[in-house]
Amino acid sequence: MNDWWADFYNDTIAELFLVRDEAAELDFLVERLELRPDFLVYDQCCGIGNLAIGLARRGFRAVGADLCAPYIERARRDAAGLPCEFSCADAFTYRPPESCDGAYNWYSSFGYADQDARNLEMLRRAFESLKPGGRFALDFLNAPAVYRDFKPRMERGSPGGPRVVRECNIDVLRGRLEQRWTTTNAAGRCSERTSSVKLYPPHQLAELLRDAGFRDIELLGSVTGTAVNVESPRCIAVGRKP
Ligand SMILES: C[S@@+](CC[C@H](N)C(=O)[O-])C[C@H]1O[C@@H](n2cnc3c(N)ncnc32)[C@H](O)[C@@H]1O
Repeated sequence: MNDWWADFYNDTIAELFLVRDEAAELDFLVERLELRPDFLVYDQCCGIGNLAIGLARRGFRAVGADLCAPYIERARRDAAGLPCEFSCADAFTYRPPESCDGAYNWYSSFGYADQDARNLEMLRRAFESLKPGGRFALDFLNAPAVYRDFKPRMERGSPGGPRVVRECNIDVLRGRLEQRWTTTNAAGRCSERTSSVKLYPPHQLAELLRDAGFRDIELLGSVTGTAVNVESPRCIAVGRKP
């Protein structure tokens, strides 16, 4: 599959998946990245910028980068007057111009490439974005729970739209979650797209963070800080740049 993520994201996906109450996620980031007032934080693959904007509202400075130009335009509009800057950029290569005190890659924005070495590059860019001592959080699917609770079809939204229907398959030989998304926008227009994410299990996420240079790696199962296990909704790996 080509770089499916380059033209995958649209307004319907933003409305149904990215717009959310992010208070608990922000609490987690402030605590686990050990953020102090005025610290600069990098939101890698920031989507519509809601976490970066939330942090800016809480007294931090934020920079975000995402490949999706309409999402970046929306983030810039929503961040007017806040200490937040957004770049339309590829996180496999992009580093913020100023070294940051903390960084995160949130809500399954990782593991898209076929090659592990390419995915690792994204973590290396996060590592390079930090000052020594800075912390990074990677919020990812909890692969054991995805296997355990596998559902071949999922729906979100309302019949009149916006709506997303996902038909899902796990390619167990490649260890990837493959999904066909049928999105219907508010005007009733339908479109189809596919996604593919490598189901890195928790221990492998920790290895990838280690390979990128991070140390003191912890694996958590949710934003409440519980340890990760087979039932956890998420796997959040947190590491520190020595
Ligand atoms: C599931 S969304 C999550 C967005 C955001 N992190 C959040 O918490 O809502 C994944 C985002 O990653 C972005 N993305 C995927 N690959 C990227 C890349 N190589 N460089 C920059 N952004 C990327 C997509 O455009 C999309 O906005």
